[in-house]
Amino acid sequence: MVRDKLTLFLCGWLGGPRRYAEKYGPMGLHMSHQKFIINEAERDAWLLCMERALQKQPYSEEFIEYLLRQLFVAAERIRMTSRSE
Ligand code: HEM
Repeated sequence: MVRDKLTLFLCGWLGGPRRYAEKYGPMGLHMSHQKFIINEAERDAWLLCMERALQKQPYSEEFIEYLLRQLFVAAERIRMTSRSE
């Protein structure tokens, strides 16, 4: 379920069709993460998972680095607006 949500969300986030909104309705990244405690450690763990997943894809290093930079921006904003300890 959450795997499907993240897949569809990233499809639109990357400039493709807005499949998440079509299936699940509008979603605010900040609202949906507000209830979680996300500090730097959680942010970095999430980014590491994304990095490992991207390394398994046949993408160029340049593209992977670009995506990780963009994901960092989104993850950092989520960290700032989510709960912290
Ligand atoms: C900063 C680190 C992040 C952490 C620790 C985190 C953690 C989580 C957690 C715990 C959930 C709920 C999973 C569930 O319901 O079982 C979730 C949902 C989700 N996350 Fe994140 N997340 C992070 C960053 C991001 C980023 C950067 C994106 C997008 C670029 C993203 C996209 C999503 C989406 C689309 C959902 C599903 C929302 C829904 O429809 O309920 N997350 N995340």
